[in-house]
Amino acid sequence: MLFLIAGIGLACVAYAQTTVQLNDSQMWSASIASGDLQHYYFDAAAQRSLGLQESEAKRVYLTLTSCSQPIAPGNYEGEVPSLNMFISTSSEETTLPGPSHGTMVNDTNLGRISWNSGDQVQNVWIGVVAPTLTDNWSGNWTYQIAISTQGWMHPILSDNDGGSTIFNLEDTDDTHALFTASGEHQKDNRSLLVASSVAPELRYSLCAVDRAAISDYTVNTTRTPDGEHFLVSNLTSNSSYMAYLIESTGSLRSMSAPIHIQTKADDNCRLIYGLGFCDQVAYSVPAKASDTTDSIRERYDDQARQLFEPFNIAISQFNCETTQYSLVRNCTDCYQDYKRWLCAVSIPRCTSISQTIADTVAVRVVDANGSRNPWIDEALEPGTWTELLPCIDLCYQVVQSCPPFMAFNCPKGDLASLQYGYWKRSSIDANGMSVQLGPSYPTLSYSSFFRLYFYKPEIYVYYKHSSINHRMIVTVYA
Ligand SMILES: *[C@@H]1O[C@H](CO)[C@@H](O)[C@H](O)[C@H]1NC(C)=O
Ligand SMILES: *[C@@H]1O[C@H](CO)[C@@H](O)[C@H](O)[C@H]1NC(C)=O
Ligand SMILES: *[C@@H]1O[C@H](CO)[C@@H](O)[C@H](O)[C@H]1NC(C)=O
Ligand SMILES: *[C@@H]1O[C@H](CO)[C@@H](O)[C@H](O)[C@H]1NC(C)=O
Ligand SMILES: *[C@@H]1O[C@H](CO)[C@@H](O)[C@H](O)[C@H]1NC(C)=O
Ligand SMILES: *[C@@H]1O[C@H](CO)[C@@H](O)[C@H](O)[C@H]1NC(C)=O
Ligand SMILES: *[C@@H]1O[C@H](CO)[C@@H](O)[C@H](O)[C@H]1NC(C)=O
Ligand SMILES: *[C@@H]1O[C@H](CO)[C@@H](O)[C@H](O)[C@H]1NC(C)=O
Ligand SMILES: *[C@@H]1O[C@H](CO)[C@@H](O)[C@H](O)[C@H]1NC(C)=O
Ligand SMILES: *[C@@H]1O[C@H](CO)[C@@H](O)[C@H](O)[C@H]1NC(C)=O
Repeated sequence: MLFLIAGIGLACVAYAQTTVQLNDSQMWSASIASGDLQHYYFDAAAQRSLGLQESEAKRVYLTLTSCSQPIAPGNYEGEVPSLNMFISTSSEETTLPGPSHGTMVNDTNLGRISWNSGDQVQNVWIGVVAPTLTDNWSGNWTYQIAISTQGWMHPILSDNDGGSTIFNLEDTDDTHALFTASGEHQKDNRSLLVASSVAPELRYSLCAVDRAAISDYTVNTTRTPDGEHFLVSNLTSNSSYMAYLIESTGSLRSMSAPIHIQTKADDNCRLIYGLGFCDQVAYSVPAKASDTTDSIRERYDDQARQLFEPFNIAISQFNCETTQYSLVRNCTDCYQDYKRWLCAVSIPRCTSISQTIADTVAVRVVDANGSRNPWIDEALEPGTWTELLPCIDLCYQVVQSCPPFMAFNCPKGDLASLQYGYWKRSSIDANGMSVQLGPSYPTLSYSSFFRLYFYKPEIYVYYKHSSINHRMIVTVYA
């Protein structure tokens, strides 16, 4: 161990310093008080690769993560300031880097500081500095520091620098959250970590997240062709959590960027996924709190499958193999896009009002017995619920992909000033035919708006069966 004594002028106080020698790829944990400076040293050249007798310079990866931080006085409202790290790779520059010597590492991300040497280096001297706090703060920072010639010791999974992992939140209900993770990593070494109240300043520090992890939740992992689904159960309603995807390789744990989740306050939204027919559905739907998820999932899926049947018959009468109606689309596209649209409008997405204040244009409150498809009120009895409207793009896709004889239309023009429509239990005149509106007809309303679209149109879709032709008629009513 290298032992150095030095007097450093910092805030007019002299510090006696002990330099700790770090070993390759080994984690070191420490505690540091307000205003202190701690020194580390790493001899990269001394780390011999297997089979190599010669000392050589190496590229090194250095990370520091803060595991805990001092407690602010009660009336303090700002952020807790973070530790800083200073570097020197030359003894001529300094062997005691700190605020007045060396280079400050500026790659800091909420509790995690990282530096890689880029070029090969022989030696690295490191200074860790704690900000100076007033007397009424209590406690130290604790942290982990690690340096390696192999790669990061506190790796972050990322999808934007060539990594292949994409970690997403699909939706929540009052006690569950559903995540998907894509990418090549299909081994059993991926897991989910759910934490409550991680200090905002420490969100990219795995040791801080570990301390805030909750324990009484379960995760059901299902493999899909594209990756994995993680269903987290037993969360508390109307609560906020942070979720992380963790990938383990030996003792090294990589973590994803955090995903903030907020469980819903209402118990009449239920998270469903894994439907046999509407296989793209992975979100909360309106339902009665006391019904089982299996029964809710099956009833929605069966209903969508039934609604799809007239379309199936109609497209089967079109000679898809020999009739080209578009240079870029064929019947397979029509089938897929229609199915996707039908599933999105017949299986509405349920949300909590409190959760969507920022998106209020895209939501509407559905009164008890006011669902646009009355089958939902009859079969699922959700009571009053809040609908998150699907994107009108789904409708445009169908128009573009399907043969013109199907006469599929979407709301046109600037319909922004229109009121929402509502379900009418009556008979109306559509496209010259009298059409009975009612639950036995696949009558769906479709409203747009999500992000790009500021329309709030209403569209009713009918299928009319006749003995000659099963023709789909789509009409837009405002
Ligand atoms: C480095 O390894 C040596 C020998 O195994 C050990 O004595 C020392 O404590 C280690 N240092 C750190 C910082 O882990
Ligand atoms: C706080 O950190 C200092 C080093 O800066 C250390 O001497 C002290 O023991 C730590 N206090 C606690 C309670 O860990
Ligand atoms: C903490 O100390 C600072 C300066 O010493 C003072 O301005 C602040 O009011 C104090 N806060 C509390 C809660 O005592
Ligand atoms: C961080 O440091 C690098 C090199 O030392 C420098 O090029 C860059 O501008 C710095 N970035 C910021 C935000 O200070
Ligand atoms: C964990 O998954 C990664 C990515 O697939 C893989 O490279 C690594 O070998 C796995 N580790 C273990 C211990 O299975
Ligand atoms: C669910 O959470 C409760 C406390 O909220 C706990 O008592 C129970 O053990 C948890 N169940 C599971 C399966 O983790
Ligand atoms: C996990 O989810 C799958 C698919 O939804 C289900 O079949 C299985 O029973 C669940 N397992 C547990 C332990 O809940
Ligand atoms: C949900 O939590 C928020 C803030 O924590 C609170 O204002 C609101 O009343 C809660 N809603 C319900 C339905 O409990
Ligand atoms: C439609 O085109 C795709 C390729 O673009 C092809 O795989 C598919 O078989 C075609 N479907 C039909 C019904 O021709
Ligand atoms: C909804 O309709 C059902 C059946 O028609 C009826 O029993 C119930 O009272 C209605 N609920 C409300 C809030 O109107």
